[in-house]
Amino acid sequence: MTAVGIDAIEIRTGRLKLDLPGTFAPEQGEDPEKYTKGLGLHASSFPDSYEDIVTMGANAAHRLMERKGLEPEDIGRIDVATESAFDNSKPVSTYIAGCLEQVYDGDFHHANKGERKFACVAATQAVDDAYNWIRAGRNRGRAALVIATDTALYARDDPGEATQGAGAVAMLIDEDPSVVEISTEQGYGSADETDFLKPQQQFPSVDGKRSMQVYLARMREALEDFEHLSGDTHPDDYAYIPFHTPFPGMVRKAGLLGYRHMIRDTGVEDELAEEIGRQPRREAFDDEEAYQEAIREYVDALAETERYQEWYGNTVEPTLSISREVGNWYTGSVHIARASALRDADEKDIDLTGQELLVGSYGSGAQAEIHAETVQEGWREEIEAMNVDEQLDRRYDISFEEYEEIHDAHNHDVDSDVEELTTPENEFVFDGWGRMGERK
Ligand code: HMG
Repeated sequence: MTAVGIDAIEIRTGRLKLDLPGTFAPEQGEDPEKYTKGLGLHASSFPDSYEDIVTMGANAAHRLMERKGLEPEDIGRIDVATESAFDNSKPVSTYIAGCLEQVYDGDFHHANKGERKFACVAATQAVDDAYNWIRAGRNRGRAALVIATDTALYARDDPGEATQGAGAVAMLIDEDPSVVEISTEQGYGSADETDFLKPQQQFPSVDGKRSMQVYLARMREALEDFEHLSGDTHPDDYAYIPFHTPFPGMVRKAGLLGYRHMIRDTGVEDELAEEIGRQPRREAFDDEEAYQEAIREYVDALAETERYQEWYGNTVEPTLSISREVGNWYTGSVHIARASALRDADEKDIDLTGQELLVGSYGSGAQAEIHAETVQEGWREEIEAMNVDEQLDRRYDISFEEYEEIHDAHNHDVDSDVEELTTPENEFVFDGWGRMGERK
């Protein structure tokens, strides 16, 4: 069977940067360490007044097409995943295709365009759709463009304001991919939940603490479901485990949950037993509360072991490096976690070809999905072609007053006419609803 997966990745960050410990925390009267140590965040990306989900998505897709030497006729499908859409009818992919058509001779008239929605897991679902479309032989030799794009903003003074961000990830899904081949096996954990939702409203209604519990519960179910198909997982089977990253502190919890689950009944649990005992088994407890307390104690002890810390440091921590600097990108988050992992392997000169990643996606509402990926030969070249550091470095560091203005500028309920803080550089810019313009 021909391999299908991700052939190229490009990211596009919002052009502004909010320093969380330095600028935001003091204004909120908070300890900067809540951000650096607790949430694990240094900064959030924000869109300048001329940026939005369309321009960020189009700019990421354009760079990808230029770098890969693609023309519109090479693309048979454009799917956008977003939870920041402004149009209930026309998919954001049509706006993005409209931007791209301004700079290419050809057009996307014969490409299938759509929009995927299921909170942050939607981009992984769009990748699945592209994968299935190619596997079904309906692609006529063409590739699919999947674009995850979001402005993840919360209402002012909502606790979620600590975990905002804005950016886009464009991915080319194709046969014989250069970056990763995607596994056929997938595990799901899915349930009707109301901890995070945006019914006819711009900013989410969110029960933050509960949303963290729901994330972990669905992720565990997805891992169990994945194991039913592919056999038991072992923590050492995977070079990296990129998770959906609303903020790195969340992934610290997900990593521990995953490890605890994966070592059950393995030699690792046996080896650790001398130090911290065995995992409490539910059947050994009459009382649920006592069982939960025993689990908490075991997990706390596990987190302190050298073995776990080494595994986490090598397998999960490196997936957080971009996220720490940009915050939550909703649909793009798990995909920047993968990019961070590959960047880490490149920097450490690790030979990753043929090694496996385990990818944990999640969307509120709520659904987790787990699948494996096999790293392909061209991964290093692809990851080195991305200009992540350059984009992060050129962001404009906003003051708190500028943050307040820019938040208003992206709030549909507030009239705001904010000056641009950066200068567009040969990129697509927001030029009024309905039409996006290109500006040099
Ligand atoms: P909060 O009330 O701002 O923060 O809420 P906190 O007081 O809970 O502190 C956060 C962490 O920092 C805690 O760590 C504190 O202990 C620690 P934890 O106990 O959880 O390990 N801390 C400190 N550490 C060191 N020094 C200090 C200090 N102070 C505190 N001085 C919350 C945080 C994440 C709940 C809030 O920001 C929020 O509601 N965010 C939005 C919701 C969210 O991100 N949920 C995540 C799971 S759901 C998800 O991932 C889906 C999502 O991406 C949407 C989608 O799918 O579409 C959100």
